[in-house]
Amino acid sequence: MLTEVSALAVSLGFLRWWLGRDKHPNVPHIRPGTDLAKDGPYYVVQSFLESHKRELPMHSYPLLETLGGLLKMNLHIINDPVKSKEIFSKSEAVGGHFELTGWWQLLAEYRRKTKGRNWETMTNETLGLMRDHTRSDPKGTKISKLCRRRLMELASKSNSSQNGWQKWTLRFHGWDRICKYANNALESAVKLDKYKLFFINLPTWLRAWIPLRFWPDWVSFQQGLYDDILDLQEMHNKNWVLGDESDTLLAILQTDHAQGKMEEWDVINLIQQLCMTGADTTASVASGIMMTLARFPEKQAKLYGILESQDFRADEFKDCPYLMAVIYEVYRYCPMIYRSLLHSITETTEIMGETFHKDELICYSITGTNMNEKYFKDPWKFIPERHLNEPGEFQKSQYQTPFNTGKRSCPGQILADIELFHFMKHFVKHFKFELHPDHPMPVVETEEGWNNFWTRDPHYAPMHHFLQPKERKFLLVPRDE
Ligand code: HEM
Repeated sequence: MLTEVSALAVSLGFLRWWLGRDKHPNVPHIRPGTDLAKDGPYYVVQSFLESHKRELPMHSYPLLETLGGLLKMNLHIINDPVKSKEIFSKSEAVGGHFELTGWWQLLAEYRRKTKGRNWETMTNETLGLMRDHTRSDPKGTKISKLCRRRLMELASKSNSSQNGWQKWTLRFHGWDRICKYANNALESAVKLDKYKLFFINLPTWLRAWIPLRFWPDWVSFQQGLYDDILDLQEMHNKNWVLGDESDTLLAILQTDHAQGKMEEWDVINLIQQLCMTGADTTASVASGIMMTLARFPEKQAKLYGILESQDFRADEFKDCPYLMAVIYEVYRYCPMIYRSLLHSITETTEIMGETFHKDELICYSITGTNMNEKYFKDPWKFIPERHLNEPGEFQKSQYQTPFNTGKRSCPGQILADIELFHFMKHFVKHFKFELHPDHPMPVVETEEGWNNFWTRDPHYAPMHHFLQPKERKFLLVPRDE
């Protein structure tokens, strides 16, 4: 008996050592400046800043350490903007989305368990655009890329003509409800919250034994969005059958499905992904622009003066380079979307001299580059003019990548820029942005001042899928009154 117990203890000890060992001892490891349980976006960003100061091309950062060391996850963060572009554009091995596929798989498993509408055809693989890009699944990769193309076509159509936009718009009844689902979806999918990471790490068979009341709240809540999308599809199909002209996104996707190019749930998931990725992202940046202009009134006055002098007419980016410069300086200086998504490795590969294996995680430290003197002079200062060249045209820095780069970069980037350009043109025309006397946002253009602007709240705090300012309240003062 003693022998068996000793053997078990030795085996468990070995397993713990094996699972908890440092797989990349050459990659400097930076821990959060707080307990891992209280870690949040601020501390992740601090690791980016430290890495840039130490000129580390890559560092690792702990995401999860639980079950007495049996479950340990590290994130490998690429800091070099040039290498990052090369890796994300050329590598065939960095197109997985373990953390996101895990999120969608929970939704699928829950729906099957509870026999929600259309549960019979829903699988853990039919994830639309979020399917992994991997050589081991050429069919799935092709579907993911087609979904991506469809989303980008939608974005370009929305810009081409008023008519195009009208036709491609999804007409939901109950937009408020959809917005709540979309906010909750983006937040829960992207945040590095430990409970979610733990849950998606469990094997499907083990999860199946866990009573549904212990599943994260968002899993049951999000089923409502699927039901709304199914309603929308039914409503849409009252006026459309296969073979009719395909001038709506749903018609195009359903035609793709009928032609065997994607599955039924790829269609539904792509509509869901469009709702969840298109709203909060642009809204957060828009509020960041207004807040930053309130903090820098002389830049706001300059922008207003330029727009007023051209009677607020600016149809294209080139019609108001200063507005583009303000938007890009806000992407840099107020980077609420502070990092890329987590990309999982799909096959053994070499990245910057290190061998990575399947399911390891990498990402790019967007904010680290933004705040590095080497790439942006006086990084702690808000200077939109840095994005204008000698003749006064807008010029994007090769080091600035608010949407990341490569095969899984943001497919909504052109749409986001277009939306922000036109929203802000109109907002600046009608409102003056001012600081609220009871909610100060001190302007101190130093590293300390910049750091003090952000909350230290943990990943699980509301809205902490993004880097969040301590104060969010500012005034919109109508100009017309
Ligand atoms: C200013 C607004 C936005 C910013 C700053 C932003 C930024 C990003 C970033 C950093 C990523 C991760 C890329 C990577 O990990 O390589 C991403 C992914 C994504 N974004 Fe955006 N985004 C914005 C707006 C939008 C909009 C308007 C849409 C849709 C209409 C959208 C759809 C997506 C999708 C679907 C992905 C996942 C792509 C994939 O995994 O293949 N985004 N975005």
